[in-house]
Amino acid sequence: MAKISDYDMFDYDYSTYWKKREYENLAEKSLLHNMLDGEKGLWFVDIGGSYGRLTSTYYDKYVHPLILDYSLKTLQKNREMLLSKYNNVELIAANAYKLPFAERSIDAGMMVRVLHHIEEPEKYFREISRVIKSDGLYIQEYANKVHIKAVIKALLKLDFNFFNTDAYKQPTQHNNEGVKEGVEGIFFNYHPKNIEEMMTEAKFSVMKKTGCSFLRSQGLKKILNPETMLFFEKIFQFSLSWTNISPSIFLKTEHISKKQQEENTFESLEDILVCPKCKNKLTFEASDTANCKKCHTKYYKQEGVWDFRVQ
Ligand SMILES: C[S@@+](CC[C@H](N)C(=O)[O-])C[C@H]1O[C@@H](n2cnc3c(N)ncnc32)[C@H](O)[C@@H]1O
Ligand SMILES: [Zn+2]
Repeated sequence: MAKISDYDMFDYDYSTYWKKREYENLAEKSLLHNMLDGEKGLWFVDIGGSYGRLTSTYYDKYVHPLILDYSLKTLQKNREMLLSKYNNVELIAANAYKLPFAERSIDAGMMVRVLHHIEEPEKYFREISRVIKSDGLYIQEYANKVHIKAVIKALLKLDFNFFNTDAYKQPTQHNNEGVKEGVEGIFFNYHPKNIEEMMTEAKFSVMKKTGCSFLRSQGLKKILNPETMLFFEKIFQFSLSWTNISPSIFLKTEHISKKQQEENTFESLEDILVCPKCKNKLTFEASDTANCKKCHTKYYKQEGVWDFRVQ
C-alpha cells in the first residue's frame, strides 16, 4: 500500500507556505492561464487542490470544477471561502491513488505540487488514466530532479550517479511542508525522462512542456519585486522550456486511450461518483450518504465535503 502524505495528521495549514512565495505563485498561475487558454468542458478535477490556490485558472472554463484532496480538514475549513468566490465548485476528500470517479468520466484535470508526495507515480498515473476521457486534457507538474542548481552541485561533488533517471528522495530537513519539524515526510524529485516514460505508458501524450520558477533564488527575491521577477519568468518560460534547468516542470498532455464505442455523458456529481475501493456505482440514500452495495462501504458528506478517503 502506498504511503500517503496526510496533512491532517499535524493540522498543517498549507496556505501559510505561500506567505513568502508570491513570485512562484504568479509564475504558476501565468503558466496555467496559458496552458488552459481556450479549453472548456464539463468536469475538471484539481488533484491535491488543497485550499484552491489555483482554482482561478480553471473554474470559469469548466461547468463542474472539482477540488479533490486527502486533507478533509483543509477542504472543510476553506469551503465557505471557496464557495463565496466559486459557487460551482465541489469539494471531495479522497486519495489520488484511489479516485472515486467512474471510468472516463472526467473531461480534464491537473496535479500541481503534489507528485513529490506520490511515491508510486506509476500507480497514480494508471488511476488518473482510468478516469480521464479519451482525448481529455491532463496537466502534470513535478519537481525536477535535474534542475540547474542540482546539476552543478552533483558535478562539484563528482557524483555522476546522480544523473540516472531514478527518483531523488529529498531530505526532510528544513522541509516541513505537510509534516512537523523532525518528522520524515514524503518528498520526491523526478527525472523528466522517467516522468515522460511513465506518462506515455499510462497513455498520456505530451503536447507541451513548460518550465517554471526559473528565478527561484533567495538572493534575487531580496532585490527584485515579484512583478519584476514575473516579467523575466515569462521570457524564460517562453525561451528556455526546451531545457531541463527549471526546478519545476509542467506537462500539458492529451489522454490518447482508445475511444470506447459509446462514451457516456455525466450530468450530475452522483453520476460520476463510484466506490473508490471496488469502483462499483453508489446508491445515494440521502443527500449526504452514499452506499456501495458491492463491498458494503458507506461514505458520508460532512460539513459539505464528501469523504471518500480510503488507503
Ligand atoms: C503542496 S500541496 C499543493 C496544493 C495545490 N495543488 C497547490 O499547488 O497549491 C499538496 C497537497 O496534496 C495533497 N495530497 C498529498 N497526497 C495526496 C494523496 N495521496 N491524495 C490526495 N491528495 C494528496 C495534500 O493534502 C496537499 O493539500
Ligand atoms: Zn465498494
